[in-house]
Amino acid sequence: MATLQYSLLLSFTLSALVSTILAHNITDILSGFPEYSEFNKYLTQTKLADEINTRQTITVLALNNGAMTALAAKHPLSVIKNALSLLVVLDYYDPTKLHQISKGTTLSTTLYQTTGNAPGNLGFVNITDLQGGKVGFGSAAPGSKLDSSYTKSVKQVPYNISILEISQPIIAPGILTAPAPTPSSVNITALLEKAGCKTFASLLQTSGVIKTYQSAADKGLTIFAPNDEAFKAAGVPDLSKLTNAEIVSLLQYHATATYSPFGSLKTSKDPISTLASNGAGKFDLTVTSAGDSVTLHTGIGPSRVAETVLDSTPLVIFTVDNVLLPVELFGKAPSPAPAGEPVSAPSPSPVASSPAPASVEAPSPLAASPPAPPVETPGGAPAETPFGSENSTADGSAAVHVSVPVQVTVFATVICSILMS
Ligand SMILES: *[C@@H]1O[C@H](CO)[C@@H](O)[C@H](O)[C@H]1NC(C)=O
Ligand SMILES: *[C@@H]1O[C@H](CO)[C@@H](O)[C@H](O)[C@H]1NC(C)=O
Ligand SMILES: *[C@@H]1O[C@H](CO)[C@@H](O)[C@H](O)[C@H]1NC(C)=O
Ligand SMILES: *[C@@H]1O[C@H](CO)[C@@H](O)[C@H](O)[C@H]1NC(C)=O
Ligand SMILES: *[C@@H]1O[C@H](CO)[C@@H](O)[C@H](O)[C@H]1NC(C)=O
Repeated sequence: MATLQYSLLLSFTLSALVSTILAHNITDILSGFPEYSEFNKYLTQTKLADEINTRQTITVLALNNGAMTALAAKHPLSVIKNALSLLVVLDYYDPTKLHQISKGTTLSTTLYQTTGNAPGNLGFVNITDLQGGKVGFGSAAPGSKLDSSYTKSVKQVPYNISILEISQPIIAPGILTAPAPTPSSVNITALLEKAGCKTFASLLQTSGVIKTYQSAADKGLTIFAPNDEAFKAAGVPDLSKLTNAEIVSLLQYHATATYSPFGSLKTSKDPISTLASNGAGKFDLTVTSAGDSVTLHTGIGPSRVAETVLDSTPLVIFTVDNVLLPVELFGKAPSPAPAGEPVSAPSPSPVASSPAPASVEAPSPLAASPPAPPVETPGGAPAETPFGSENSTADGSAAVHVSVPVQVTVFATVICSILMS
């Protein structure tokens, strides 16, 4: 019963928490214009659509099917994503405003500038009102030509989103020639080590789960890598007490078989299944966002998504503040090894004969401190037990306080008292 109350309240509260309001749906708008179907398809594939939908006051410079196909034919998806993010201008330009640019020329910020991939001012575009009513677009990099031009208006929703067709992609120097590692050639282990996730990387290797990751990387993979501090945090269970199958599940729980860059996580509404998911609702993660912060919830504790280590479509690697502990492994029994729980272990686990990962220090094994059933407080903040640093508690609850509207709190309190009576 306590569990039922908890899950009711948790699912209610979490759905209320998704606070990112979508300003528009670019996919839906463009679906009415077949001449941009290719452009629309790539906005979806690169997940730029999610990013566009969360932003207000935006101008999308659309390529027709001919121009889009020409761009896509020669480049991998990660390069296409960079090129298209340079076509998303973080300002509102309708045809009238295009012709009223003060002094006839301006530099405008694009989504590319916000990715961290754009050196210098390569993420800006130059918009210039040329002679004879023509408007030219080019990279803001000095010496660039204005070789793309405005051709026609597609759609305006003042002053939220404007879609304008331009003749060809805007090419910033180096954007098409930057090395684009194919996801299968990326050395995930090396990247994780460099990002301060040595413990996680070593567990992936000794368990063999790295092979599962590496082979999923081509088709879409998002990795949530706990940093080394996270493994040392109080409350992290003694991993040496887990069976090999459980270690495999735990590691598979730290990745999803989809390309979900930060903007997509921010807008995700439904629970996301992980590589460990072996049935509906099993080994899922719930995502909440508040402002620019994204938090993952396992049902046991929250974990903030800290940094993007790599975003190279269709592979993305994040660091997270806490080890993600699935309820399926740690939430039910007070003992660290719940018996009889079928655990999926599709990949052979070479860890079987090797000693348990010795590098993991667990100051308080779960056995010694059974997880208190997480209780929803009447105040509205889910009292998930944070495994990890105290700061993650602050993060988690701050996110909650910011985004829970008063009536939700009241409603949760009411439900709480009904269920408890
Ligand atoms: C613009 O976006 C805001 C916020 O999402 C919304 O309230 C408003 O109705 C939108 N304007 C139009 C004209 O759709
Ligand atoms: C946007 O519109 C598309 C096509 O109409 C639809 O499939 C998709 O679910 C919508 N996205 C959101 C976030 O509502
Ligand atoms: C835009 O590019 C043109 C042509 O290169 C240049 O003359 C103009 O100064 C640039 N505009 C700005 C604001 O830098
Ligand atoms: C990946 O990097 C790790 C550590 O930096 C190294 O041990 C391993 O050999 C590399 N793997 C490949 C396939 O290059
Ligand atoms: C928590 O954050 C504060 C300031 O934000 C910092 O001084 C402190 O060292 C952090 N503690 C941990 C455990 O990260």
